[in-house]
Amino acid sequence: MSVIQIDDSLLLRRLELSDISALQHVISGAFNSMDLGEEVARRLSLYCSSGQSQTRLTDQQDQQIPCEYWVLEGTCEHDCIGVCGLYRANWWWEGCLWLGWLAVDPSKQGHGYGTSMLNALITIARSRGASVLKVETSADGPATRFYLKMGFSVEGRLAQLYSANTDGVVMSRKI
Ligand SMILES: CC(C)(COP(=O)(O)OP(=O)(O)OC[C@H]1O[C@@H](n2cnc3c(N)ncnc32)[C@H](O)[C@@H]1OP(=O)(O)O)[C@@H](O)C(=O)NCCC(=O)NCCS
Repeated sequence: MSVIQIDDSLLLRRLELSDISALQHVISGAFNSMDLGEEVARRLSLYCSSGQSQTRLTDQQDQQIPCEYWVLEGTCEHDCIGVCGLYRANWWWEGCLWLGWLAVDPSKQGHGYGTSMLNALITIARSRGASVLKVETSADGPATRFYLKMGFSVEGRLAQLYSANTDGVVMSRKI
């Protein structure tokens, strides 16, 4: 599975090299950091040019952290609305996948795109053998409310994960 048609105007598909500059804009805006956007774009370019972007995470046994990046595309304008990674370090069991870099273009937030993207990612995660989905995010950030609404619960708090004053939380959901 490399494409999920969500509805007439939305699909979720694997990341391609040609998406990177649009996604740099999405990540910089969503996380409010140009530096972060540049760094993620650099890593995603390496990921695509290594060929990893065309392989399922279950077939990436040579990687320490097999992962797939998925892009939410508006089919009318072929624009990149959102992005998310699915990954699992190879020392974890195969039933647990993690979300990473889930982001929706700031100009499109609050219209249900994050919900549509996460629901489609859950379908993909199940197809990769997962029964549990986890995510690590800022303890006091707005994304925790998004994940709570999506059926995740807080499993634990990670003190001073992002800075001396910013804790993280791990949230989890059975899928
Ligand atoms: C979190 C994020 C992906 C949600 O995407 P979205 O398209 O805005 O989400 P939806 O429109 O589907 O919202 C679904 C629900 O999530 C909650 N929610 C979403 N954004 C929220 C915010 N900024 N503050 C509080 N609640 C929020 C709401 O409960 C909303 O339901 P409602 O509209 O019925 O109230 C998006 O806001 C984003 O990219 N944020 C910045 C990056 C980030 O923090 N990513 C998570 C890192 S792990």
